[in-house]
Formats: sequence, C-alpha cells, structure tokens
Amino acid sequence: MSATAVTSLELNGRPCEIRGDHPHLLAALRDELGVLSPKDGCSPSGQCGCCTVLIDGKAQVSCQLSLEKVEGRSITTLEGLDPDERDRFASAFAARGALQCGFCTPGIVVRTKALLDKKGDSLDRKTAARHLGAHLCRCTGYTKILDAVEDLATGRVEEPVSAGEIGTSGVRYQGAELSLGDKPYVDDLYPQGLLHGALRLADHARAEIVRIDTSAAKALDGVEAVLTAADVPGELRVGLIHKDWPVFIPEGGRTSYLGDVLAMVVAVDRETARRAARLVEVEARPLRPIVDPVAAIEDGEDAVWTLDGNVLSRSTYTRGDIDDALTRSAHVVHEVFQTQRVEHAYLEPESTLAVPHEDGTLHVYSGGQGIWDDRDQIASVLGEPTESITVELVSNGGAFGGKEDMSNQAQTALAAKLLGRPVKCTLSREESFLLSPKRHPIRNRGMGRL
Ligand code: FES
Ligand code: FES
Repeated sequence: MSATAVTSLELNGRPCEIRGDHPHLLAALRDELGVLSPKDGCSPSGQCGCCTVLIDGKAQVSCQLSLEKVEGRSITTLEGLDPDERDRFASAFAARGALQCGFCTPGIVVRTKALLDKKGDSLDRKTAARHLGAHLCRCTGYTKILDAVEDLATGRVEEPVSAGEIGTSGVRYQGAELSLGDKPYVDDLYPQGLLHGALRLADHARAEIVRIDTSAAKALDGVEAVLTAADVPGELRVGLIHKDWPVFIPEGGRTSYLGDVLAMVVAVDRETARRAARLVEVEARPLRPIVDPVAAIEDGEDAVWTLDGNVLSRSTYTRGDIDDALTRSAHVVHEVFQTQRVEHAYLEPESTLAVPHEDGTLHVYSGGQGIWDDRDQIASVLGEPTESITVELVSNGGAFGGKEDMSNQAQTALAAKLLGRPVKCTLSREESFLLSPKRHPIRNRGMGRL
C-alpha cells in the first residue's frame, strides 16, 4: 500500500486508524483491519448489500464510502455487537432457516439491527420488507428472512435445534456462524506471507493476440510477478468434458470471449495487483465476434481458438418410425423452443487461495463444486502428479452449478507454485460476470402430431 493520509474513526467502540490506501471503507475493513463479517459481493457498485455496516447507527453499504467520508465517524460491524444480541440474531436466523449459503446474511442482520434500534417492537413485516429491498439474496428467498426479523421484533426467537438421529430434521449446519459472518469463505482467509493475484482479461471477444507487454506492470512497486501462458509448464487447457478452455491466451493465440485471461499479476496487496493488471499492455487484432451458436454451425471460421469447427459433438437417438407416425397424423405441428441464458449470480464472486508447502506439495482452497475435478485440472496445468495437490472445499457463497467449472484455480495455483508463497485471487463482480460459464440457452426444434 502506498503512503497516504491516516483516517481516524471509531470502530466497534474503539478508536481506530486506517493507514493504507483503499478504494473504500469495505476494503479497509477487510484487508487492513481484519474485520471480515462485511462480505464483498459487488464492490464498488453498492448493489448487493453484503457489505452493510452501521455508520453512526445507520445501515450503509461500506463499498460506496470513501475513507474521507468516514473520517471521525463511528462504525459498527457484527463483531462489535453485544454477545447476547449476537446470539439473538444468530438464533433467529438459524431457527427460521433464513439462510442457505449465508453470504448475504451478515449484511441483512446489520440492516435488521438498524431497523430494530429505530422501530423496536413496532417494526412490522411490511416495513422490514421495504428496507430489505436493499439486499440481494440468491438462495433463500425473503419469506424466511422476514420470519426471522418478525421474531426479533416480537421477542419470540426460538432456540435453533440441531438434527439428531436419522429421520429428524434440524437447522442449517453452522447457521449461527454463517449468520454473523464468522464462518470464513475463501476470501476471508489471510495466511502469513499472503500475496494477491489479479487477472488481465481480454479487451475483445474475438481477437488475435499479437503482443502482451508486461514490463509496465512488472515495474510497479509491490508487484512480485506477472504470469502469462509462457509460464504454464503443463497443459494450457482445462475442461470437465472437453479440454477446450485455455487458462491463458498466449501471444499468437486468439481470444474466444471477453473472459479469456491474458495475464495474472501477483503483488503484495489486492489494489496493487489490480492496478498492475490494468498496466499489462495488449496488442490485438480484433476479429468479427461469433455470438450466435446456430449461425456458427454454418460459419467457415472457428469460434473457439484451437477447436476445429463449431460443432462440439453429435448425438443421435432413434425410437419408433417417426416418418410413418407423421404421415398418419391429421395435423403436424412444428415449433422451436428456446430457454433463456442464466447467469448464476451467486453472491460470492469466485476466489481461490493456494498455499505451497516445503515438500513441493500445494494446498488449494477452492469454492468450486468439484474438488476432485479441480485437483485433476490444476495438476495437469502444473504438469505435476495429482498426489502433490490437495484441494479443500471452502463452503461457497452460492454456486448453483456455476462453480463446477474452473475459474481462477489453475492460475492461482501456478502463481503459488512458482513464487513459493501463498497467493489468493478473488474476482470482482464484473470479472465474475465476464469469466464464468453461464447456464446456456437450449434450442429445441420439435415436431408433434395431433
Ligand atoms: S453492496 Fe457493497 S459489496 Fe455489494
Ligand atoms: S443465503 Fe442469501 S445469497 Fe445465499
């Protein structure tokens, strides 16, 4: 962090100074002060509510507050609440099943605290619902959350019951810790000697990459390394069914979408890494993007770099005599059905932490949905035996199938391996949208007889 003005404030009832250069209060709380209950779902856009804290008793998203704005103010996070009050909130949310992944919940609890402080037992469901509109929850839905808020307002908080023997039902495992933001996600892990990674993504959905110049990024104070495809000792591509996804696009390669990775910067802190990633200069020759899968079937150019043609596979299934059945039909209906594209929109952006050990093995903390697949793919990119890699699942802040594919695991593992230091890389919301595979539309041309 560069030297900057010191910000003085009160944090959880104690005087406190922020000395680093942070883009907003949330970054200062998490990266410098170790206050991890406010979560980062979308900073700095202020859209999700996960980073909500109390500023002079008022609930506000901390990713939209510059350090100048909080000078002299009083900040309260869930860490600073009275232990009895913390228990009450945790019990209410856990007992009502008002959380699943829990990533959004600490922010919602803070908002609830502010509402209860203001309105006490007159807080009704309708008012709570209006205020909780500032919070996105992708897993739970809002009914149970409002049940929990209502219990807190009326003082009828139930004791959460853990599941007993088989056949009994209980509350969400670790629901209390999740409600208070105490259970760590990957981005909440800060091992000794941690370095931070940031990705340089493509400027064009489809372009030939002529040159990648990392010199300006490497020259920035605090940068430890800038990795490109030239640093990959093993396979360049990963993929669960087809290995068709390059972890880096090299010079001479071609991008296939805006989420393609051209370089990874590793630096002493997150902001330096991100600043340096923007300094990686890329000379590219833009090409016509291929964005329509139906048109791509007839397109003479390949949509995905190094794949031959635009048809991934063909499957044929035959049952009965369709021609005969249609001939005998009084009416035949032709229809095309198409489902919509879905961004999984888990509240927790992808994050990976890789920690190298002295014996040459690597421990990777992943929020992915398939640790064995992650392990195989990381090992193949590193050119290492799978036994040398351990992947530990850190419960993620939502996934919905979208974290089955790799995101930044291979690049982060490579950086930790080459530098011999723990490296963490957490995507911004924008990077997550660009990089992650979507639930793609399915087009079905159907015919039926009447
Ligand atoms: S509103 Fe601040 S992280 Fe989403
Ligand atoms: S529990 Fe709300 S986003 Fe997962």
